[in-house]
Amino acid sequence: MEMRLTFTCVGEIMVEHIQRLRQLPKPNSTVVFDQNRSTLGGAAINVAWYLSRLGANARLIAPLGSCDTPLLRRLVRGENIDFSGIIITPGCSDRLFTALTRHQHLSVYALAMQPKTLGDELVERCKSASVLLLNGSRHEALRQANTALATRPTNSRWLFFNPSYAVFAYTRTELRKIITAAHVTILNRSEFGYVRSLLGAKEIAKLSLARGRVIVVTKGPDGAEILAGEKWKPARSRISRIGVFLGAGDAFVAGFAYQFVRGNEPDEALHYGLATAAAVVRSRSIRARLTEAAVRRWM
Ligand SMILES: Nc1ncnc2c1ncn2[C@@H]1O[C@H](COP(=O)(O)OP(=O)(O)OP(=O)(O)O)[C@@H](O)[C@H]1O
Ligand SMILES: [Mg+2]
Repeated sequence: MEMRLTFTCVGEIMVEHIQRLRQLPKPNSTVVFDQNRSTLGGAAINVAWYLSRLGANARLIAPLGSCDTPLLRRLVRGENIDFSGIIITPGCSDRLFTALTRHQHLSVYALAMQPKTLGDELVERCKSASVLLLNGSRHEALRQANTALATRPTNSRWLFFNPSYAVFAYTRTELRKIITAAHVTILNRSEFGYVRSLLGAKEIAKLSLARGRVIVVTKGPDGAEILAGEKWKPARSRISRIGVFLGAGDAFVAGFAYQFVRGNEPDEALHYGLATAAAVVRSRSIRARLTEAAVRRWM
């Protein structure tokens, strides 16, 4: 019988205000956001969402501002994610305001105040996780917690690193520590450009060859590339669509991690990640209510 591992996703939660517009706002103009359509989001939620949609046990460990708990109840409804590890903090969570057109987006991210003890509490709650996915973070305390979790003596059986756009907030030392420890690091093209500028292409190649680490770079409509061993290997996207598809990257992470942990080769995990992303691109939704059967149709 297959043992069902729990996938622990750690990171920040934000309240997403996404306004679809025909064109990006002009300078000296104001965009009015309708807060009634706001939802909770962020890479940690998205990855947990897609893992659970694929049939995995998914657990979310993240801070949530007490004023945003009604939004959590709305998100939880009908979803099979374990939210019991959420840490309720005073006040509100981070805010993301995104003006989204078909081809571009312009975003403002507002950081919430976090209690001083947050980092330690996150480490405590994640320390026995057997599959740990480190997401984000734009908060220094969370980046430090991610570094502590990656370098702690009792390692997780599986460690994934999905810093997303918050990668630009990490120092070279933090990135080196986490990427060296993580079995798999997943970045998009611009995030990878930043990591390569800090660590150098040779160091990255060494991590893969000498330590067996896997690096994946997603490239939007151009699919993805994987470094698992000696050479980078490209793979095409399973779908061809013009536009920006928020959430496809996190869906890719979930699909890849789900298959990788089940003992599949990096190439097979890559194809499953691409299939999950394609299903999400097709749905045009950040958190699509997809099923494993829907993903399989893209294989
Ligand atoms: N326009 C597109 N057409 C086809 N496939 C796409 C497109 N955009 C994304 N994808 C698929 O989704 C995967 C992840 O996309 P991308 O590289 O844009 O991630 P990302 O920038 O991390 O996205 P996000 O963080 O918003 O979820 C790609 O590898 C590809 O398979
Ligand atoms: Mg991403």
